[in-house]
Amino acid sequence: MIVKLLIYDTEKSIRTNEFAAEVQAGLAATRRYLMPKYFYNDTGSKLFEEICKQPEYYLTRTETSILMKYKRDILGICGDQDISIIELGSGSSLKTKILLNEFVSNNKKIFYFPIDVSETMLNDSIDKLSTEFKNLRVIGVCSEYASGIKEVNVFMLNHSDVPESKLLVFLGSSIGNLDPVQVQKFLTALKEQVNYGDAILIGFDLQKETTILENAYNDKAGMTAQFNLNLLARINRELQAEFDLSFFMHEAFYNVKQQRIEMYLVSTCDQSVYIRGLGKHFSFKKGDRIHTENSYKFSLEGINKLAIASGLRVIKNYTDSRNFYCLSLLSRVPDTSETGK
Ligand code: AVJ
Repeated sequence: MIVKLLIYDTEKSIRTNEFAAEVQAGLAATRRYLMPKYFYNDTGSKLFEEICKQPEYYLTRTETSILMKYKRDILGICGDQDISIIELGSGSSLKTKILLNEFVSNNKKIFYFPIDVSETMLNDSIDKLSTEFKNLRVIGVCSEYASGIKEVNVFMLNHSDVPESKLLVFLGSSIGNLDPVQVQKFLTALKEQVNYGDAILIGFDLQKETTILENAYNDKAGMTAQFNLNLLARINRELQAEFDLSFFMHEAFYNVKQQRIEMYLVSTCDQSVYIRGLGKHFSFKKGDRIHTENSYKFSLEGINKLAIASGLRVIKNYTDSRNFYCLSLLSRVPDTSETGK
């Protein structure tokens, strides 16, 4: 019987130069950018854990409190059959543990598939979880989201003892990294991964006062700044670049019109940086910016519309008393275009 296992994205080796190619494309663009998924190497994942502990970063704390309050309700809706819980971007799995605790004590058989790009983080958490929960089978998937879900599907096809009933979990408002077009595509694709009767649990950070939002992305301890600058450190290490981190500054502000936090790395002087791995110099004028992240903020109405547009329906929106954050439990809607025929 499998209790603990770590599997890898099997197609990863075919895409080895992805990072180099994407850094090259981003830094050569007129509006320079780096993709936020590259924040999460081992150092970045640890820095993100630190961000979550900052007093200004209410997201993690609020989401945890909602999970604590409504875990029974969520379990009740998922039913008491055997279930496979699949989590996108599981990180330390700390918040999911709240749910696992609840499910393990009520269900017969639970399979947990945490998907994360950070191998260290994943190894750590599957070790801890498999010793802590005796009835839990943990299959860690070291991968990005899309390929991770594919790996889980392959695993399920090859292992008949894995429960067919699914709960897909995507916490932390990571969905906020996607722009409105991407988010609908993403949810539509997620929908395809579940059957009718399965559930999807997604964390959404809600729109609120600008100062509260901006403080959350400009913590006094400077963790968010370090997290942002770590992108350059990663390029230095992996692409033999010569970024001097002291010549770049963290910037984050709320774009009210677009309802998103925008994050940048700003050059503090005129400079030219050599990236040996790309064989190229990149020059920056003082004040030039590299866009590193968008973090969209949602409304309950927006979440409902988004669900419907993606072929999903909101079973329940769980929020906190301040309406800072929303955990949405969604399910697949039967395809009406087929039933009419
Ligand atoms: C992991 C994408 C949800 O947008 O709040 C935290 C990442 N960036 N501080 C967020 C992040 C800066 C985080 N998400």
